[in-house]
Amino acid sequence: MKPMGAIPTDFATQPLAIAGRTAEDWVAAAGDTPLFVYDMAVVAARIARFRAAFGGIDLHYAIKANPFAPLLAAMAPLVDGFDIASGGELTMALAAEKPPATISFAGPGKRDDELTAAIEAGITINLESASEATRALGIADRIGVTPRLAIRVNPEIELRGSGMRMGGRASPFGIDADRAATVARDVIAAGADWRGLHIFAGSQALDAGAIIETQAATMALAGRLAEQIGVMPPLVNLGGGFGIPYFPGEVPLDLAAIGEALRETRANRSPALGDTRFAIELGRWLVGEAGVYLTRVIDRKESRGETFLVVDGGLHHQLAATGNLGTVVRRNYPVSIATASADTATETVSVVGPLCTPLDRLADRVTLPIAQTGDLVAVFMAGAYGLTASPTAFLGHSYPRELLAGHS
Ligand SMILES: Cc1ncc(COP(=O)(O)O)c(C=O)c1O
Repeated sequence: MKPMGAIPTDFATQPLAIAGRTAEDWVAAAGDTPLFVYDMAVVAARIARFRAAFGGIDLHYAIKANPFAPLLAAMAPLVDGFDIASGGELTMALAAEKPPATISFAGPGKRDDELTAAIEAGITINLESASEATRALGIADRIGVTPRLAIRVNPEIELRGSGMRMGGRASPFGIDADRAATVARDVIAAGADWRGLHIFAGSQALDAGAIIETQAATMALAGRLAEQIGVMPPLVNLGGGFGIPYFPGEVPLDLAAIGEALRETRANRSPALGDTRFAIELGRWLVGEAGVYLTRVIDRKESRGETFLVVDGGLHHQLAATGNLGTVVRRNYPVSIATASADTATETVSVVGPLCTPLDRLADRVTLPIAQTGDLVAVFMAGAYGLTASPTAFLGHSYPRELLAGHS
């Protein structure tokens, strides 16, 4: 038997209830399995927790974590900005009626057509290189629009303990800190609408101390750069990196401690940031725990002493839960038998998908209530980097359905 991560408290009911309805109810509403259900009430509660801990700091949602259209539309009025990473995400953000002035675009390799669409729409471009700055200014000149430009900085800082480090090294992301002021001065001199700095040092960190340290270093770096640039940045995006506990032994972030420390860091900022606004940019922390992936047991089989539940969903929809999205050691996400009652006896089983690869394993030798063909398996922590981060076309299985729950 192997351990699995803790089931989020919002869904720790047996049988499973999501926004007050059973898993079978949600499947009936969607028409079939596999199905992602996102509980908007859980997302709204996260946003409220952020507001309580970080008064005065803007909250941006990185829509790459989950760009499901009804979710974006519901989140748009609740957060201060959307951060996008492509022309496709620009279309999605605008369709959610997020005002263009609150959208920012980061990501290396922006094509000319993406830069054009972004400048025409009036969103902020976080420039990733000096040559991207030159291209953006050239396009803006050609179409006769003043571009809203910010500099994405590749900081000397890395976010300790983060699942994905994006600072402190040679990087395709952002302009090296020692060259950032020069590029900023150039775009300001060229007449761009100067929007400020974007500094993102890493992702999926569960150590509040590491985040506090990184935010302090980021604030200090932003202060030094603002002094060198000589024009106050209207906004400094301090990055994010807030993680969520996917695996056994992991504990949720202490948000209050981070908020408290940031208040102090901000109070002691450089005078060159006197009137600057600050933002934190989050993806998975806002939506990850709100998502449940429901998949039906198609077959139950024994092989050489082990029991397998073969389900109709798998890595083609929920790659991360199978351990194939950037993890070195495979560990179990929290899963449950959504249709089982609390008094069902348990057994040790593996939950596997229908793909012809041993990689398609949603749970490896976990203890679950005994399930039969027709039961529903719930895979939790499925609200971020689920469907859109999975190889849906692989083997030609059907596309999953998605639903937003808990929202009127
Ligand atoms: C620039 C940027 N912003 C935000 C995010 C979102 O990170 P997370 O979902 O871990 O909060 C990422 C993740 O890759 C990123 O690269």
